[in-house]
Amino acid sequence: MSPTQTPKINEEENHKLSFPQGFLWGCATSHFQIEGFPDEIQNRLSDWANWTNDKSRIADQTSADEACQFYQRHLDDLALIEELGLKAFRISFNWPALMMGQKGQLADRLDENAVRYYKQFLAGLKRLDVKVFATLFHFTLPDWLSKDGGWLSDECPRQFARFAELVAREFGNDVDFWLTINEPLAYAYQGYVNGAWPPGIKNDYLSAFKSIQGQLKGHAVACKAIKSVLPEAKVSYTIHWRPFEPKNRFNPFDHFVVYLRNSVFNHLFPAAVRTGRLQFPFPLNLIGEVKKLEGKIDDLSDSCDFLAINYYTREISTYNLAAPANIFGERALNTSLTCNDMGWEVFPDGLYDVLVKESAVYQRGLDGRHLPVYITENGYASTHAADLGPGDWSLNDNQRVDYLRLHLEALYRAIKAGIDVRGYLYWSLLDNFEWAEGLAARFGLVRIVYPTQERKARASAHEFAKIARSNELVFEAPDG
Ligand code: FCB
Repeated sequence: MSPTQTPKINEEENHKLSFPQGFLWGCATSHFQIEGFPDEIQNRLSDWANWTNDKSRIADQTSADEACQFYQRHLDDLALIEELGLKAFRISFNWPALMMGQKGQLADRLDENAVRYYKQFLAGLKRLDVKVFATLFHFTLPDWLSKDGGWLSDECPRQFARFAELVAREFGNDVDFWLTINEPLAYAYQGYVNGAWPPGIKNDYLSAFKSIQGQLKGHAVACKAIKSVLPEAKVSYTIHWRPFEPKNRFNPFDHFVVYLRNSVFNHLFPAAVRTGRLQFPFPLNLIGEVKKLEGKIDDLSDSCDFLAINYYTREISTYNLAAPANIFGERALNTSLTCNDMGWEVFPDGLYDVLVKESAVYQRGLDGRHLPVYITENGYASTHAADLGPGDWSLNDNQRVDYLRLHLEALYRAIKAGIDVRGYLYWSLLDNFEWAEGLAARFGLVRIVYPTQERKARASAHEFAKIARSNELVFEAPDG
């Protein structure tokens, strides 16, 4: 995909870009990355809590046992949300803490302590008039369910449907936007191909595909369960959209790799949700075991009320002649663009293209229904060791400010081009536990000094607050 020509901006826009009235400015989080939920951590209730028992699995050998102590500090952190003038906030419900369940047996209620904690926080958000996006599966499973095969087993969607139903009953008045599953493809890839996340399996593409099928079933039944309790609920899932580009544009093999990655990573899930059928691209659909996974999934078709896109970067891809069996090729690391500290290229044009071209088909349901778009994650990582003390390190995060502004400019252009984007959630409010990268990879607008848990707003937080409050992206007048 080559970047598209973006609409020109006029003279007034040279000075400031005004976003549509009512645009939702917010931040996104997920429970395991911030909470340090006492019951989950002490009793190793989730697959992730268990996975991090072995610190060698985490790049900086940290764990999320404390994370941001959000469980203890969430009421204080509401003040940060208020200070930043946020109008939206994305949380995820801690499935393992709220509903452990048991094989073959469906729980009939949620854990009272966990409910109390979420109720308190959500009531705080309501007082601030902040709209709530809530995810039901953000990469962590009850540990027993993970050991039982996770999304490869039919028990998982069954349990998930009950979880969705109970959560919808309990929190129906507190949530504005429901997200069933977060980034199903990232989960499948990390869990079954890269092996960096639980269940830690490597190069098992068939299981990765099965887990995608399982997550599609999970999305369908959760969506149905939520709507059976709350018929007017707005429900979706998030898709991590990553543009792929060939390393060598004259090399047909690189183009093939790009086609395959794009069709699987970006399109497989949204296409299935739209049509109600899982269908693998050529040549994967020629493989018997993969073909068997194809076909209609009950209650899946059009089970989506808005499009939720997570966008961070693009990926240059190449076919490796030395490993010809790997038809997905590999990531090429030669880039002329600025990268964040995790090596992710800063590529705002990709966001424009995703919105205007690549995801356009999913902005309409099969029945012609119009689906608005929300950016449910976008952010910049810098790396600073977890045990750094208070100094002023990392508060002047100009690269994060630049990243934010460039992506908002691209977003504005997409809106000008006619795309109905209604909100932008920056990932993330606080530095947090970045999965296999640990605590050192930091995305926060607000810095956390982990040894003391001190919170301090970075330059990017002030910048974001200015934008959120004014609903405008202002450019400094050129000198003279
Ligand atoms: C996304 C995840 C989120 C966070 C960001 C950096 O893929 O949804 O949990 O790790 O990346």
